[in-house]
Amino acid sequence: MTAVTPVLPGLKARYLRSGLHQVKGWLAVSTAVYLSGIEVAQRTDGITGDVAEIGIHHGKSFLCLSLDLPVDQRAIAIDVFDNQTANVDGSGRGDRSIFEQNLTTYGAGSNVEIRQSSSLDLEKDGFVEAGRRFRIFSIDGGHTAEITENDLWIAERTVIDRGLVVLDDVLNRHWLGVISGLFTYLGNGGALVPAVFVPNKLILATSADQAKYYRVLFAEQFPGGREKSDVPLAGNLIDVYAERPWLVRDTDGGSGPITGHEPMATIPAARLAELERQLTSAQRERDTTRAELTATQQRLRAATMPLYRKAARRMPWLARPVRPIVRQVRGVLHRTK
Ligand SMILES: C[S@@+](CC[C@H](N)C(=O)[O-])C[C@H]1O[C@@H](n2cnc3c(N)ncnc32)[C@H](O)[C@@H]1O
Repeated sequence: MTAVTPVLPGLKARYLRSGLHQVKGWLAVSTAVYLSGIEVAQRTDGITGDVAEIGIHHGKSFLCLSLDLPVDQRAIAIDVFDNQTANVDGSGRGDRSIFEQNLTTYGAGSNVEIRQSSSLDLEKDGFVEAGRRFRIFSIDGGHTAEITENDLWIAERTVIDRGLVVLDDVLNRHWLGVISGLFTYLGNGGALVPAVFVPNKLILATSADQAKYYRVLFAEQFPGGREKSDVPLAGNLIDVYAERPWLVRDTDGGSGPITGHEPMATIPAARLAELERQLTSAQRERDTTRAELTATQQRLRAATMPLYRKAARRMPWLARPVRPIVRQVRGVLHRTK
């Protein structure tokens, strides 16, 4: 079932519809919609502040947060970029020039600030000291437990009360450092509260009340996206939002789908099961036809060879010119086996 997005400003809508699949990176299509939509919904609800992301790669998710941002609010992009020796677990590979090109292509404003740094150095460089200023803080940098925990503390200490934190790859079985880091952070007294799960990212609020607020806001903004409510996670209840095909609406009254190849995950399970059934049945039909062909060839051989041999024995002068033809027929029968 196709869902409709909230009404989005022009650059965000255009990026989702035709840019998303051009930018390399790791971001579920529906999560691009959820991030873009919630950034706008916050502003509509009077929440102002900057946005930030640790872990940029080519800017796929950063563009969802930073396009159409009011000029007095900044978007901070943090990545080790050229210093890939600091990318200790090889998660992605930030490329500053491709990122900057994407910012230009999709129309990001001059309020984007690029900070080349390991997130492990942010605190000593005064990033935390600068105070609470972010309304969205996306964490998608190094995926080790140590870096994840570090990044969660930095986010907790720099987001505003009504802000939210987005943690990538929490349930990615190849990057279990993330879930380990999350539980270490929570076990060590981390104050962020899980609120909503979107494909591949956990969204945390600053308090239980704020988690409730964001669960309501998500339900209002994405009524077609909620898959399951009240799922327990680490002592909290969260709502889970799904992959959907989307119709992206914009402020000019236009709407259009997200173009490009939809990942397999967007094919509903029932349709996938039906396709698998069709494939199995087609394979069975192919095997039956092959067996029938082999049986027919054997029958043909059994029927013709004795006749030929008999004729060849009795009338060798007649069989001699036919011999090359028989050889050819044999060859054909052999090849089609
Ligand atoms: C998985 S990619 C980010 C994907 C990106 N958010 C997207 O939408 O496609 C991880 C990024 O984090 C960067 N990175 C790795 N370790 C880091 C660290 N300790 N501090 C900052 N950035 C880091 C990598 O260079 C890479 O660009």
